[in-house]
Amino acid sequence: MSTLSRIKRITAPELSIRKGAEPIVVLTAYTAPMAGFLDKHVDCLLVGDSLGMVVYGLDTTLAVTVDMMINHGAAVVRGSHHACVVVDMPFGSYQESPEQAYRNASRIMQETSCDAVKLEAGVALASTIDFLVKRGIPVMGHVGLMPQSVNTYGGFRVQGKDTVAARKLIDDARAVAEAGAFSIVVEGVMEAVAREITNVVSIPTIGIGASAACDGQVLVTEDLLGLFSDFTPKFVKRYAELGEEVELAVAAYAADVKARRFPGAKNCFGVIKDSSAEVRRLQP
Ligand code: KIV
Repeated sequence: MSTLSRIKRITAPELSIRKGAEPIVVLTAYTAPMAGFLDKHVDCLLVGDSLGMVVYGLDTTLAVTVDMMINHGAAVVRGSHHACVVVDMPFGSYQESPEQAYRNASRIMQETSCDAVKLEAGVALASTIDFLVKRGIPVMGHVGLMPQSVNTYGGFRVQGKDTVAARKLIDDARAVAEAGAFSIVVEGVMEAVAREITNVVSIPTIGIGASAACDGQVLVTEDLLGLFSDFTPKFVKRYAELGEEVELAVAAYAADVKARRFPGAKNCFGVIKDSSAEVRRLQP
């Protein structure tokens, strides 16, 4: 058995008991190399359906399919060995019935070897979470701004702004926790709502645009690295400007190619410098 295969990943139950303890660090990952960079720094890698927007250039997450999630989920599992890997269930893959959710969730678990699935669900889909958990599928819930519901909101909007809406979100979170989810993403809500949800549910809350009141935080990795778009939402902190770095590197490459500075002798096969510094071509 290799050393790597003996290293144990963080499990969903291990995350679940971190409620109120050391904050849980979550980032999105969609590819094996990125998963490798992030793995030792995070507790959980989320293969979010945000990949539809970040990787595929879609306007929303609605066109993301189960096959896309499986391909990216499997890549992230291959690229990591420490963090708990959670794969999003995409729009239309679980809302119809608990049976449909089980079929797709079990396929995602089997074909990616991920540790858990995430679904955007409140009171309305609590019975689906219960169905999955009782059949061996760990579930992370997601309440507040649920991007798969963008068309019912009429845009990506902060949720729970008035008392009635805030109460509904708290009920949603409570229902998800009582249905057996091991943790819950709380997205795009007022600070007071995030704080109240975190107080009333027994499972860790993972905030995005939901304040420091949550038990952990998640961001889209490309947002924090400056790799996604010029627009930075208020809830994102950019820790790097890699998009600018990419542009500088690519411009330097293009200039080198045009000036015939690249490839140089050291980048070529079959070219060696002899002792008199003359270049001699070798036969392949
Ligand atoms: O799809 C996603 O990446 C997400 C996170 C932003 C929470 O759901």
